[in-house]
Amino acid sequence: MTEQYDVIIIGAGPGGYNAAIRAGQLGLKAALIEKRETKKLGGTCLNVGCIPSKALLHASELFETAGKSFANLGINTGKISLDLIQMLKQKDDAVDGLTKGVAFLMKKNKVETFFGAGEIVAPGKVRVTGDAPTELEAKNIIIATGSEVTPLPGVEIDEVQIVSSTGALALPAVPKHLVVIGGGVIGLELGSVWRRLGSKVTVVEFLDRILPTMDGEVSKQFQRMLKKQGVDFKLSSKVTGAEKLKTKVKLNVEPAAGGDVETIDADAVLVAIGRRPHTDGLGLANVGVETDKRGFIVTDHFKTTAPGVWAIGDCITGPMLAHKAEDDGTACVELIAGKAGHVNYDTVPNVVYTWPEVASVGKTEEELKEAGIAYKIGKFPFAANSRAKTNHETDGFVKILADAETDRVLGCHIVGVDAGELIAEAVSVMEFGGASEDIARTCHAHPTRSEAVRQAAMGVEGWTMQA
Ligand code: FAD
Ligand code: NAI
Repeated sequence: MTEQYDVIIIGAGPGGYNAAIRAGQLGLKAALIEKRETKKLGGTCLNVGCIPSKALLHASELFETAGKSFANLGINTGKISLDLIQMLKQKDDAVDGLTKGVAFLMKKNKVETFFGAGEIVAPGKVRVTGDAPTELEAKNIIIATGSEVTPLPGVEIDEVQIVSSTGALALPAVPKHLVVIGGGVIGLELGSVWRRLGSKVTVVEFLDRILPTMDGEVSKQFQRMLKKQGVDFKLSSKVTGAEKLKTKVKLNVEPAAGGDVETIDADAVLVAIGRRPHTDGLGLANVGVETDKRGFIVTDHFKTTAPGVWAIGDCITGPMLAHKAEDDGTACVELIAGKAGHVNYDTVPNVVYTWPEVASVGKTEEELKEAGIAYKIGKFPFAANSRAKTNHETDGFVKILADAETDRVLGCHIVGVDAGELIAEAVSVMEFGGASEDIARTCHAHPTRSEAVRQAAMGVEGWTMQA
């Protein structure tokens, strides 16, 4: 007889594995299916995304700091040298440890794991192909199959000379010249890694600014900082073709609006122009699950167009972020269990883990202008923050946008060291519908960078005290 479950989850990324944990906690019998060949849980995020990229960002930042800043702090080390094999190994160790942690959590929550590709063959029926093919049945199926790299026609990814983020996390040697196509999150994070380790990095971006969804002032100032660090930018430009030679790639680059073609020689090319939903081979048509023009599964509170089939994470609309997928998974299972699951996409923070970090939540100035919402701005530079000055890390600022009438916080944008941690305060305040005055009147420890958030909030009503 086919094994019966309360819920079958296809895909073991942050969306799927957190859905599985919540299902276990709520007493639902859950099955989790994952097709990754390595048989490791955790999805893109743990295996080839958030975790390995942060492991390399951390190590490469320390490498650069040791080489460039230690002497100024009175620490003499002699000449610093790179052991790339060890750096890549500690990254792999981090991935290994965390994926094992997810496997432990599945056991702890009595979730049954199946390795192989899942396909919905009929309502309530999922076939798993793999080493031990099987068929499972459940009242509820959650699709959590995530996303994949968007290809660029004419620039074929071989993961050797022309790589996606996956190849860029495992380059066997530091390329002399790395050309990054796409000035988004992946391009800037992984471009930063290889620049710190010695590459010349050129970023080719189609639009006239990097990080196009971020607040305009933030992306402009941040680009200046990266430029000072040595990253070259070709904005409003597109790559129209790539010719692979033995050890080099010749890229044709031309203005986005058309014009003269320029050739750039690269030792490695990273294609990072976005990700697209991954739903191949899932059998969506077998049960009538609809997708939109861009391939995202159409949902209403995670319900797809097929009864009993739900979808979460990167394969549905909303920010393609691990914590959003995780929250989707939790809320979706709570709905299945008859509870009130909900995710507020207006308060999902977005962090770029470069040096310094960039973090944002809520509306940008551009979005508020377009929506015709009257707002006030409070801003504070880290150059006036005592902790940042003491640590010689004064680049960046905090910007808070609040409703001109009600003072409700509508957005917060931070460029600076630890921006990814600092943004959490604004997220909490926004989640509670709080005002900038709530932040301004809250005691913040001294000396911390969080005081810059408070001073920016004071600035909304014009009483910033320390600048
Ligand atoms: P995924 O993590 O993509 O997991 C889906 C899983 O489903 C995969 O393991 C896949 O193998 C499996 N699958 C697909 N089809 C089937 C099938 N038919 N049967 C069985 N299994 C299947 N986000 C952040 O928030 N912070 C970061 O710092 C960050 N860094 C990133 C760095 C990089 C280089 C990349 C590429 C992404 C990064 N992201 C980051 C994005 C983050 O990885 C995704 O938003 C997140 O993984 C989405 O989770 P998910 O569960 O929806 O899908
Ligand atoms: P992205 O959407 O962040 O950036 C892609 C960039 O490429 C954009 O600036 C876009 O204008 C540009 N572009 C598009 N087509 C182009 C072309 N033909 N030529 C030149 N430029 C072009 O996508 P990215 O960086 O690939 O990352 C994918 C997703 O992964 C992100 O959107 C994010 O959701 C997630 N991610 C999150 C991270 C984090 O939270 N720190 C880190 C890495 C990825």
